[in-house]
Amino acid sequence: MQFPDIEITERLFLYFGIVAFIIFVLVVFFINRFTVKYRDKGEIPVQSGGNEKFEVGMIIIAVCITTFFLVMTLMGMKSIQTIPDNPKADLNIIGHQWWWEARYTESGVLTANEIHIPVGEKILLGLTSADVIHSWWIPDLGRKLDMIPGMKSYMWLYSEKEGEFLGACSEFCGAQHARMRIRVIVQSREDFEAWEQGQLKEAKFSSDALFNRGKQVFEERTCTNCHSITVNQDSADIGPNLTHFASRKHFLSDMKENNKENLRAWLKDPQQVKSGAKMPNFIFPEEELEALVHYLSNLK
Ligand code: CUA
Repeated sequence: MQFPDIEITERLFLYFGIVAFIIFVLVVFFINRFTVKYRDKGEIPVQSGGNEKFEVGMIIIAVCITTFFLVMTLMGMKSIQTIPDNPKADLNIIGHQWWWEARYTESGVLTANEIHIPVGEKILLGLTSADVIHSWWIPDLGRKLDMIPGMKSYMWLYSEKEGEFLGACSEFCGAQHARMRIRVIVQSREDFEAWEQGQLKEAKFSSDALFNRGKQVFEERTCTNCHSITVNQDSADIGPNLTHFASRKHFLSDMKENNKENLRAWLKDPQQVKSGAKMPNFIFPEEELEALVHYLSNLK
């Protein structure tokens, strides 16, 4: 048995598909039939008036189809929207231009863009936005829902199978809307908890000189004004939390694989990589760039 949300949506989609296909076939059939029947034979055809019975019949059919889908849709919406009164989201997702912030209520995990959930469990998502309207949509995991600034919307997230599922922002939100991708990683309960435990640890310290130089650059060059390297819920969240940056396989909302080469290109000239992104160009000298890349790619 699938999760009812997905089952209802898929069934409705199937019915729409069947009816649309039948109408399509009829339209193509009649276009062809009348094209052949009334093709130019050198005489001007006689114009005929309306056909009351036929017109009334057509209106009745159209009203019946529309009513059927209206009722089906309303019933589907009612059974999908089973959000409790005074809901408390398990996972809050906040849309930003152009990335996704994720806050796990119970554990306090803070992450971005790569969302982990346990398999076979209903997760209540609380969706909102920090700037403009975004829209959450992971096609394999059900419907989409707009994320509106100043308002929290709720929906269930559920997957019966493990794996990685890709989604995209589905509401135009500016220059990098098309690249506002999201990845949901569905894991067994044990793997999920192990991941959570890892994410809850504070950033590692190291005696490695280059690592510490990177840390120093990160702090002195005001990266900390927007990005946090701590799991404190009140920390800066203008840009993604980077405490465990290197544990994410992709960055820039799933745009690039998270490796040193891509990270260096991004830090060197953000606009070249993702034009319009809010990340300023700090014009780092080579030595600082080297240290930063080393530092960030060691934050597992
Ligand atoms: Cu965010 Cu489109």
